[in-house]
Amino acid sequence: MDILIVSPFGGIGSTITSYFVSNGHKVIGIGGSHSKERKEQFQISDFVETDYFSIESMDNAFAKIREKHEKIDAFIFLPGGSLFSKAIGEIKIQDFKRVIELNLTSAVVLGQHAFNWMKGTGGGNMVFYGSTTGLKPSKKKMPYAVSKAGLHMLSKSFALEGASYNILSNVIAPGYVMTKRHIEELHSKAKKLGKSYEQMLENLKKKNPLQGLLYPEDLCEMTDKLVKTRKITGEVISIDLGQTSLN
Ligand SMILES: NC(=O)c1ccc[n+]([C@@H]2O[C@H](COP(=O)([O-])OP(=O)(O)OC[C@H]3O[C@@H](n4cnc5c(N)ncnc54)[C@H](OP(=O)(O)O)[C@@H]3O)[C@@H](O)[C@H]2O)c1
Repeated sequence: MDILIVSPFGGIGSTITSYFVSNGHKVIGIGGSHSKERKEQFQISDFVETDYFSIESMDNAFAKIREKHEKIDAFIFLPGGSLFSKAIGEIKIQDFKRVIELNLTSAVVLGQHAFNWMKGTGGGNMVFYGSTTGLKPSKKKMPYAVSKAGLHMLSKSFALEGASYNILSNVIAPGYVMTKRHIEELHSKAKKLGKSYEQMLENLKKKNPLQGLLYPEDLCEMTDKLVKTRKITGEVISIDLGQTSLN
């Protein structure tokens, strides 16, 4: 398959990209400065840099990709982040808008390009990385929660209108994933609180019914399923050890 991955080398993205490359797929990447810095470590067919806060930059990046490649069979969208933690009353509107731009507007712009491309080439599969925070709010994360809830509905809208063009669209909504960044954050939080790293892990495990931890590798199987499915569309699939639906 020819797979376009947006943000191919982030915490979860680098594992997803390695998975598809090692399984013999052609991977094309669009990414920001973080992915650009890491691109030499991965062997993908093409990489074009973009800025998620500039519509013009995303339009240009997509045009460059389309000049060089005939089609894509799948589109995987991974950029995102909460950017800050603040109580609702203290959030500045310009900061709220920045979170929406990173998590949602960029998905509208790049998703629309992918949708139009696939519409003209016989269809394909779209997979968006949402979040359980878009299903159930977390304290001090209102902008992120709102943007991810919007992303979930964006995917459903692509699924609805895409059905007549053989385009399927779904969301993976992970819980807390043990990415390199989160592992580093847990180590420094443990130091601050005078706890051991192992104690921090035990506390995390207690938060979900399966009493486990979630790693980027645990997301590969479902991502693979959703880039290939011809039967599942319009779904938001939580991968969170039961935390959102059972707690
Ligand atoms: N890790 C988790 O626990 C978790 C849980 C639920 C949902 N998710 C979602 O899953 C996706 C991947 O998560 P991740 O942990 O792999 O994320 P990450 O590595 O922290 O960030 C993913 C990418 O988003 C872009 N990005 C993040 N902050 C940015 C900023 N301030 N300015 C510009 N670009 C920024 C970067 O793209 P480039 O690399 O292209 O520069 C970055 O590599 C995200 O959509 C995230 O919201 C993650």
